Amino acid sequence: MEKDFLILGIESSCDETAAAVVKNGREVLSSVVNSQIEIHRPFGGVVPEIASRNHVKNIDGVVAEALKTAGVSPADLSCVAVTYGAGLVGALLVGVSFAKAFCQATGLPLIKVNHIEGHICANYITHPELEPPFICLLASGGHTAIVDVKSYTDYRVLNTTIDDACGEAFDKVARTLGLPYPGGVHIDRLAKEGQDNINFKSVVMKDGNFSYSGLKTGVINYLHNKSQIGEEVNQNDVAKSFTVAAVKGVVDEAVKIASQKYKKLCVAGGVGANSFLREYASQQCRKQGINLFLPELKYCGDNAAMIASQGYFLMREGIDFADMTLNACPTLSLKQNKEEDTNE
Ligand code: KG4
Ligand code: ZN
Repeated sequence: MEKDFLILGIESSCDETAAAVVKNGREVLSSVVNSQIEIHRPFGGVVPEIASRNHVKNIDGVVAEALKTAGVSPADLSCVAVTYGAGLVGALLVGVSFAKAFCQATGLPLIKVNHIEGHICANYITHPELEPPFICLLASGGHTAIVDVKSYTDYRVLNTTIDDACGEAFDKVARTLGLPYPGGVHIDRLAKEGQDNINFKSVVMKDGNFSYSGLKTGVINYLHNKSQIGEEVNQNDVAKSFTVAAVKGVVDEAVKIASQKYKKLCVAGGVGANSFLREYASQQCRKQGINLFLPELKYCGDNAAMIASQGYFLMREGIDFADMTLNACPTLSLKQNKEEDTNE
């Protein structure tokens, strides 16, 4: 029988302090997420300095709880996987420093994980049968891209946003509508009662990349014009029309690529929890005969189980081991597709 690998994942890239223990990259033994949403809400967004301070306060307890819930001690672990980018530099540094100290004290190897790749791995947890290659539509608060997942560790961006991320647009539109931070989930709730009857511009550009700044300005202008002429706005309709414009074209593009390649599509990231996105993607994939994989809602947003999962696959292939010089890398990204030509 093959040996089991237990990985401790640590995540602190934004406003969630998270730790998890995952067996063989897919089986979650524990996943603890301490969210700071309530702390940041009065400011209408994440305040980096406050996020870092709260990570410092919470990380010890979150890791201890993850180990306790999983019923394992450090001696049972195979390695520690930590998010080292992308994200807020101070927030990332807390997880990275903790992980380095933990590995120094226990002698465990350390693996560095790209947060964006972690989001994609959330699908391996929900779908034990899923194997690469596949196409992934990644939509979070910081990133929006269609990714060619060539293997468990080889990712290439095919299409991406040239300005705001999808989740960022959801949060900005929500704020303009007077909804609390983070607004994506509130827009989702209102949109369920609304009609798609306002013609907002699609975010897909001619070359297949995306631009969210025009859509965001379009919604803000629509709301200002209505307010100037004293006309009441139907918030549900704005939420629905915005959601359709933000999501439909991007899903269409991902489905088109998936139908040309692999016939397998995954969704990842916080916006992957959006009910219209999930419904529309299911509908379109069914029509095109594409296998669609949606992560469980609790693994769409930031968590450490997805980080441990990616850590397992990196460890298995013997890559991305880190030493005590590991630093936070706030602008870390995925490889662009065209880099393939020079690398292979
Ligand atoms: O992946 P995530 O947790 O953090 C980043 O890595 O950025 O994504 C957070 C984003 C936020 O912008 C949030 O408003 C959005 O995901 N979000 C949603 C929904 N739930 C979370 N957007 C639309 N519909 C939702 N149901
Ligand atoms: Zn994230």
